[in-house]
Amino acid sequence: METKIWSVSASQPEPEIIKQAATLIRQGGLVAFPTETVYGLGADGLNPQAVEKIFKAKERPTDNPLILHVADFATVGRLARQVDERATKLISAFWPGPLTLVLPKQKSIPNEVTAGLDTVAIRMPRHPVALALIKASGTPLAAPSANRSGYPSPTTGQHVYTDLAGRIEAILESGPTGVGLESTVLDLSGTVPVVWRPGGVSLEELTAILGTVEMKTDLKYTHYAPRAEVVLLQGSTVKVAAKIKALVDDYSGQGKKIGLLLTAETWIELGEMVEKSAVLYQQNLGSSSHLENIARIIYRELRNCDLAGVEIILTETYQRKGLGVALMNRLLKSANGQVINV
Ligand code: TXA
Ligand code: MG
Repeated sequence: METKIWSVSASQPEPEIIKQAATLIRQGGLVAFPTETVYGLGADGLNPQAVEKIFKAKERPTDNPLILHVADFATVGRLARQVDERATKLISAFWPGPLTLVLPKQKSIPNEVTAGLDTVAIRMPRHPVALALIKASGTPLAAPSANRSGYPSPTTGQHVYTDLAGRIEAILESGPTGVGLESTVLDLSGTVPVVWRPGGVSLEELTAILGTVEMKTDLKYTHYAPRAEVVLLQGSTVKVAAKIKALVDDYSGQGKKIGLLLTAETWIELGEMVEKSAVLYQQNLGSSSHLENIARIIYRELRNCDLAGVEIILTETYQRKGLGVALMNRLLKSANGQVINV
């Protein structure tokens, strides 16, 4: 199949293009679209055959459930069996936005969506293109991130094309996404709220409304990993810089192709210590005091390392506060849980 790419305005999506995309969805096809977090791969969430195609296109394990995306509040009541006061409060505080709520599901939701669970994940994205597509389709959109399973999520239409060209009907392209990391997944199906995945809405923001929140982030399927090996360094800027110099010397001596994804502070500390010719790809991620900027570009940079042919990525850890919790969650998964303390 040939994958169509439709350029669409991020702020005022052209109705004719949205209409064509919605027609594909209603026919049971797959359309990738931007959200404020990452690009999603959408299908009619109430059509089991369409939902199955998502798993095939992404090579996603079928026991990993999908999020249903809605464009109005009323639909939540048709998808969830119970929307309690906690859910109502969170919805009015954070929707549309990067918060996914896991709620007891209605029987009408296909098992393909929920992987047979008794709960369903629902979110209302903030992106005008996503909202327009959901409305025009007239059905909730089941949509995982539009990457090949295991790989970093796509933050541009080009990333989607690289991963899924020939496997999906179309891509709505409207430039890079804003948040850059996925939504927070919060389970409200039990007495204690559980965060399964930290994301665009911080734990601090959730705690302010809910009181206690438990975090259990050992989801089975979330790697966010590039092909290159990711080495995560933790410590003072001075020590991290010194370790990077030593590792670059080591790895380049072994003929390894090195990528450096470092903060502005670490680059300053590193100065001329690292020999340019020993490094295949490098990027300044900006200051560690602006995690929102780092979150926005981190997946793009992991992908860029692969495109350049990097074999080992040296990068660093962040304070686990605010968006730093989600950023560290993804980096740790991409580094297979390993951190080098210096
Ligand atoms: O920001 C996002 O959430 C993006 C955009 C496209 O909306 N979507 C996304 O979907 O990241 P996906 O499929 O890549 O990640 C959804 C996560 C998975 O880790 C999945 O296991 C979890 O949500 N999930 C879905 N339904 C669940 C449920 N009923 N209970 C627990 N976890 C669930
Ligand atoms: Mg994903």
